[in-house]
Amino acid sequence: MPVHTSNTNWILETSNTAYAFGLNEAGLLTHRYWGARLPRLSDYPPAPNPQGWASFNNPAQLTPEEYTGNNDVKFVEPAIKVTFADGVRVTELQFAGYEVKDETLFMTLKDSFYPLTVTLVYHPLVEYDLIERYAILHNSGDQSIALERVFSAQWHLPYGDKYRLSHLAGRWFDEFHIIREPLTKGTKILESRRIHTSHHHNPYFAVDRGSADEEQGEVWFGALEWSGNWKIAAELTDFASTRINIGLNDWDFGWELKPNTDFTTPHAYAGYTANGFGAASRTMHDYIRSFLPHGNTLHKVLYNSWEATTFNVDVESQKRYAEIAKNLGIELFVMDDGWFQGRNLDNAGLGDWWPDAKKFPHGLQPLVEHVNKLGMDFGLWVEPEMVNPDSDLYRAHPDWVIHFPNRQRSEARKQLVLNMARADVQAYLIEHLDKLLTENNIMFIKWDMNRTVSEPGWPSYEGEQREIWVRYVEGLYHVWGTLRQRHPHVIWQSCSGGGGRADMGILHYADQIWTSDYTGGTSRLAIQEGFSQLFPANTMEAWVTDMESNLSVTFRMHVSMCGSLGIGANITHWNESEQAEAKKWIAVYKDVRSIIQLGDQYRLHSPQFGGGFSAVQYMSKDKSEGVVFAFRTHIPDPINPFAVQLRGLDPDALYTVEGFEGVRSGAAWMNIQNVFKLANFESTVRRIKKVALGE
Ligand code: DGJ
Repeated sequence: MPVHTSNTNWILETSNTAYAFGLNEAGLLTHRYWGARLPRLSDYPPAPNPQGWASFNNPAQLTPEEYTGNNDVKFVEPAIKVTFADGVRVTELQFAGYEVKDETLFMTLKDSFYPLTVTLVYHPLVEYDLIERYAILHNSGDQSIALERVFSAQWHLPYGDKYRLSHLAGRWFDEFHIIREPLTKGTKILESRRIHTSHHHNPYFAVDRGSADEEQGEVWFGALEWSGNWKIAAELTDFASTRINIGLNDWDFGWELKPNTDFTTPHAYAGYTANGFGAASRTMHDYIRSFLPHGNTLHKVLYNSWEATTFNVDVESQKRYAEIAKNLGIELFVMDDGWFQGRNLDNAGLGDWWPDAKKFPHGLQPLVEHVNKLGMDFGLWVEPEMVNPDSDLYRAHPDWVIHFPNRQRSEARKQLVLNMARADVQAYLIEHLDKLLTENNIMFIKWDMNRTVSEPGWPSYEGEQREIWVRYVEGLYHVWGTLRQRHPHVIWQSCSGGGGRADMGILHYADQIWTSDYTGGTSRLAIQEGFSQLFPANTMEAWVTDMESNLSVTFRMHVSMCGSLGIGANITHWNESEQAEAKKWIAVYKDVRSIIQLGDQYRLHSPQFGGGFSAVQYMSKDKSEGVVFAFRTHIPDPINPFAVQLRGLDPDALYTVEGFEGVRSGAAWMNIQNVFKLANFESTVRRIKKVALGE
């Protein structure tokens, strides 16, 4: 029984962790505990009753409330901020009851005067050691309530002011850098205001006491399941309490909560481990893999000609790429941008989702059939949310884009953003994309999004204009969800100019994510390491391209084999030996991909923090097979040899490791220094095999 209740105390237990809260003497729903699961329910501490003794240091701001209202003399970050119809801007939430349904706890808070109910939902994901949380707001009155902030969760760390925050930061072409920084007094804000998740920050956090590493140390971590504007406010108060707020971004947010309606926040997830960042990541990997649309289906090795041809696609040239791709062992051939009406450069065509009459006079069918005859699946690129002013769609419906009157419509990459919140836009996209998928044997769609929003207006909407931020994402999910439902066999990729839309929300629609437009072998290692903090390897699409082509094909293949492998190079320019190298590694990848895509990942040595060396290992869930990749970028000699200890083996079983002498126990491989002799820009891949059970 994962949810334990009494009239004043509630405890959520997962396999190894626990989360507890209760009513304190003031009747406030107050956090009690978040950490390792304890032997007895009575072991968990009681709800705190902080005492303050001066008007400025009063108890209100010391109390770790589960969902802090905007009231009393608090000045900590509230989870909620609303304005009632009469202009009152204080929200005074009081406990009003609870209910347990389907192992989910629903805590009801009601405003002390106004007709607002906030239901806090807690769902312990027992086997994943995670807690899922969100809030449902209900207006039971007869006048609207204006919502200005509604976070999904406030997560409280044990009292203390010596925490370190880890998060992911970057920019286009350079995403997912791991940042580890002490939390100092005040509030650290991470956010997106761009209408999509963004390349710059990711709705993910990990907090430790400053000394955790990949294998040890307490880590509290979490993420938000949302693909639009989001916010993390990590607050260290002046009273030594640390809390992480996570949810929709309140910047420019507004929602009219009409009488008798609900508003449900995105879901937030968080977990605790004493086993470092590696265990935290594996927890998230397992959970994310549990809900991917195609579950544990192995991803095919794909070819995409974008970086070779850009917009210059037509039947004959694509056929040529397809034939070479087939010979390399490619299983899925994807045609990228440039195939649709009027699309010769980035200045025209977006919105007109039918094959360009000049390039594809007989539609896509001849190419699709050719690809299928070669024995490969066919995939296609689309960018549904966008429109070029030079398109039939825009000429017919200039009002369909996000815009304000009397303001310019700022273009980026010569395109504007369609207002996905509009039902007519949704219907148009569903109709045209459904037609494409119905008429052609398309097994894979790359859904791209190549700009952020500007002038976020919706002039024809009569309600609260600022609802656009949320309604846009709901519209996106609706279109994508409808297409998924009609074409369940299609695998979808979430791309936003690389990793601009990588989040748990989109992974309910897409099976994989285009990690970054940066595909060179060296810096890419760190991008992939950052991505892996939250996302499993099967969601990480990784191509070998011609970027950093001074590196060997082998090195570049090894980098991309660490995820869901693809090739994006101009393979017509590859000489015979390069093709042979690629072919060899594609065959090896097919042999080990189930371990990489579905196994446990161990980051043995960090490319971002580890100098010129890095290593990453994947083990099958049953610990019988593994694979370890080691890389050396540039580091001047002389240097001690690079050595790693393997991880995740059964200590008692016997294993061999390719390239190393002997049969050793798992314990030995995990304790001895396994030396890799690598020259600059050299890499290696070694297979790990269990050869016998332990004695
Ligand atoms: C950005 C993507 O990240 C690229 O892979 C490619 O699909 C281009 N868009 C096409 O316009």
